[in-house]
Amino acid sequence: MTVTPVPVLSGWEAETLTQADIVAEIAALASHDAVEGAPQTRTNYPPYRSSILRHPTKELRYADPETIELWSPCFSERDVHPLEADLTLGAHHGWNSQVTGQPIGERITVSGRVLDGDGRPVVGQLVEVWQANAAGRYVHKNEQHDAPIDPNFAGIGRCITGSDGSYWFQTIKPGPYPWGNHRNAWRPAHIHFSFFGREFTQRLITQMYFPGDPLFALDPIYHSISDLQDRNALVAAYDHELSVPEHSLGFRWDVVLSGPNRTWMEEA
Ligand SMILES: [Fe+2]
Repeated sequence: MTVTPVPVLSGWEAETLTQADIVAEIAALASHDAVEGAPQTRTNYPPYRSSILRHPTKELRYADPETIELWSPCFSERDVHPLEADLTLGAHHGWNSQVTGQPIGERITVSGRVLDGDGRPVVGQLVEVWQANAAGRYVHKNEQHDAPIDPNFAGIGRCITGSDGSYWFQTIKPGPYPWGNHRNAWRPAHIHFSFFGREFTQRLITQMYFPGDPLFALDPIYHSISDLQDRNALVAAYDHELSVPEHSLGFRWDVVLSGPNRTWMEEA
């Protein structure tokens, strides 16, 4: 099957392009991959319109990892305060020092382990998160979504991995939000993650999703990862052992920074 090249998005097209159009394009690419095989690395995924202009057009260049390792980032417990892992403490993040209330939304605990390609824990490394609030609104000057800002929620946090490679955040569940890919386009709820790893070649920036989201089938960013197993690796699991009685629901998400089982990186 031949996939017809998709024209570059214009403002006019975003208004008229429907969700059904996008789903059809996603299905056509999946059919193509089923016959021809999916590329291992796909940076240009036309149903995700802005990837057409933003994807690399030159061949990847391999760098010398030994040289890179000389410049590997180094963090310690002193760099990050433990309270920065609790996104429900808005005042602590300097977001609004006048407010000490709790953010609105479903309080959740997100935790997991960061591993290298050999299954070894990645210890003492920086993990950063950013996310929309429960209404699907980011605190950002370019934010377009007409949903309320929560004065008690900045949506940013960070922590250092423990001796077993574990990370931990307390936050509220982000809401889905609309975006400009096509008419009535909505992103599944997600939390953005950045992992520094032990060396620059392990640097990983990606998104964590929540199980059972009805928007998965419609989202071209989610589908830009061609392999189902790789897509599933970005979806956290509900973990009742992580849930805190009378307080929060627990989600577990483990991450692999290198090797063939590496967690997929977002292309945006
Ligand atoms: Fe986002």
